[in-house]
Amino acid sequence: MNEKDRLSEQPDPNAAELARQLHQHLDSLRAAGIYWLPVSREPAAPAAEGEKPTAQQLPLFAASDAAAPPAPDDREQRRRELALLAERVAGCQRCTELVVSRSRTVFGVGPIDAELCFIGEAPGATEDQRGEPFVGEAGQLLDRIIAACGMRREEVYICNIVKCRPPGNRLPTAQEAGNCREYLERQLELVRPKFICALGACAAQNLLGTSQSIGKLRGRFHDYKGIPVMCTYHPAFLLPGRSPHKKREVWEDMKKLLQRMGRPVPGR
Ligand code: URA
Ligand code: URA
Repeated sequence: MNEKDRLSEQPDPNAAELARQLHQHLDSLRAAGIYWLPVSREPAAPAAEGEKPTAQQLPLFAASDAAAPPAPDDREQRRRELALLAERVAGCQRCTELVVSRSRTVFGVGPIDAELCFIGEAPGATEDQRGEPFVGEAGQLLDRIIAACGMRREEVYICNIVKCRPPGNRLPTAQEAGNCREYLERQLELVRPKFICALGACAAQNLLGTSQSIGKLRGRFHDYKGIPVMCTYHPAFLLPGRSPHKKREVWEDMKKLLQRMGRPVPGR
């Protein structure tokens, strides 16, 4: 085989990288519940000045610098916009380190009209593999907490401050949280939870813009844009080998939340 033939059998490294990125992107979308994408055979003509771009003209992966319009009232419209947002997140390149280390983005999961939204820190290894938040060990404990509250995982919305796994599960940096903030805010505008539960120091501090410790923040209600926020310990903090005795405090926090939600409080 001559050199030229041999070379032509090698996959083009750029094409291989492009294919890898495309696979990763589609995996992220599938995990966020998006199973199809609009196909355009012709390049879309640019929108004229002052004219609203059509769906096909919207750049899929571009960051928008304009303030987002108020979230629509219609559920279907909000669901569609949430899917488009997940798509933008899947193509996000804002954090150089996370773009390289992630297998896929982890956008969030749950119904569009969820009454309660749990917010964690960032995906871990299992979440990075599966594309869904809180599906590893901490997630299984969160599932038990949700069940103890008399709810089902399928009826709550679950997401994280940061949508990509930080290498080695390190804390997200302030810059990473800042880069992801727009996505979180829009996600909450579209889901419109009536209540939020922030899990752990990272989620609570980032959401509320405070540096108070989780020990001080937990157990009482805070406000995020008019939505009552209960802060509590992160389920990973409660796992064996860490501080399982803090489960009692988490349960106290959850009972306060249930009471405020007007739900039955188990054990009362
Ligand atoms: N820990 C988090 O904060 N979020 C997840 O999704 C999983 C573990
Ligand atoms: N540190 C955290 O970041 N979260 C907790 O829940 C407890 C300690």
